[in-house]
Amino acid sequence: MSYPFSAIFYILILSLFLFFLYIFLYKNIQILFTKNKFKEYQDEIKNYLYILNNIMDGLAIIDGRKNILFVNGAFNKNMRSIKIQSNIKEFDILTRNLELNSLIDNAVSDINFKFIEKKISYYDRAEEKIINCIILKIESSNEYAVIIRDITYLQKIENARAAFIQNISHELKTPIAAIMGFTETLKNGAIDNPDVRMKFIDIIDHHAKRLNYLIDDLITLANIETEKSPVKYEKINIKSGIDHSLILFEKEIKEKNLTIINNITDISFISDPVKINQIITNLIQNAVKYTDNGGTIKLEGYIADSKAADYFISNMEDTSVLWDNLPTKEDFGKFFFFSIEDDGKGVNYTNLFRLGERFFRVDSSHNDAHKGTGLGLAIVKHTLKLLQGRAIIKSSLGNGFIFSFIIPEAKSNFKQN
Ligand SMILES: Nc1ncnc2c1ncn2[C@@H]1O[C@H](COP(=O)(O)OP(=O)(O)O)[C@@H](O)[C@H]1O
Ligand SMILES: [Mg+2]
Repeated sequence: MSYPFSAIFYILILSLFLFFLYIFLYKNIQILFTKNKFKEYQDEIKNYLYILNNIMDGLAIIDGRKNILFVNGAFNKNMRSIKIQSNIKEFDILTRNLELNSLIDNAVSDINFKFIEKKISYYDRAEEKIINCIILKIESSNEYAVIIRDITYLQKIENARAAFIQNISHELKTPIAAIMGFTETLKNGAIDNPDVRMKFIDIIDHHAKRLNYLIDDLITLANIETEKSPVKYEKINIKSGIDHSLILFEKEIKEKNLTIINNITDISFISDPVKINQIITNLIQNAVKYTDNGGTIKLEGYIADSKAADYFISNMEDTSVLWDNLPTKEDFGKFFFFSIEDDGKGVNYTNLFRLGERFFRVDSSHNDAHKGTGLGLAIVKHTLKLLQGRAIIKSSLGNGFIFSFIIPEAKSNFKQN
């Protein structure tokens, strides 16, 4: 009798042992599993945070009271004009951008709010920045994502494109209309009138030439930008090149009664004559165009030594703009220095920074007496880049305009034939 009892006893003990073992293992495996899962989640979150911190768009997550829960790197960078302190937890203080803050105020106070997208502009030092801003209510929580994207560059391209289409159509249309109109008049009988026919042909000739210049400018710029216009060095006589450029504007200079002070010394220099000519012709054209009747234009040109490059920088003023393509590490022995100064209407501080942008004109109004395409200084800027030049533009509204540049002499690249 005792045998079956002890067997039952042992079986009971064994089952109890197995039961506790099962519970023990079950619990521990679960803990182990949860721990692993937790680690996995933690790694995943770290990865997401890393990605969010390194994306181009700025992202901030805020709660319904505008407390900041998360801000990524791009958000900080884009809003950098406003000093961000790491301990600041309230959005208003974080950005100090009134427009963005009022958008957020509206979002958090509207219970039906879901989404808003708006362009916001503000000034970062002297530069206007444009930010596309999206505020999104995160479903299932009382949190909001504020996503910002810097579209300053895109907006500039878009504005330039729109301005270009407007300008170019006008610029192309005017000469074509004149050519067509006067051709028609000639065909309708004026050709037989010796008093007017030559005058009309001259007008047609003038407009055809204008059209040609415009198309040349467009091709020049396109060639520089697509690098189809390599630099070709040779020994050049700068003075005669500049004299030739001046001849192009002789008629206008006479008509406007401009005084030209020409202090260009005889310079023999190794560089690209076509490119230097392109730069100087555009600068003379602007000086002639934007100087009032009776004004004065002063030209300086000489060979400068290596100190000229430093002198350029030390002469920078708050209102000067620098276009610098001069490699700092290289040692150049000789520079060509050129400066053109006029006492015309000049350009104000904000516009000064935009010079050289394609199609940018201070006054793009079509009734403006000074018609142009806004391509001249873009050509100058790109060409100076090809020649590794350093340029300074100084101007203020009503106080004339000075454009100075230096170009290092080409030595290593120059092969004498
Ligand atoms: N010497 C100058 N004086 C005053 N404004 C100037 C001068 N040179 C250039 N500008 C301004 O810069 C703008 C861009 O010049 P540019 O690129 O040569 O285009 P465009 O002469 O065809 O208008 C001009 O429209 C003008 O407003
Ligand atoms: Mg011009």
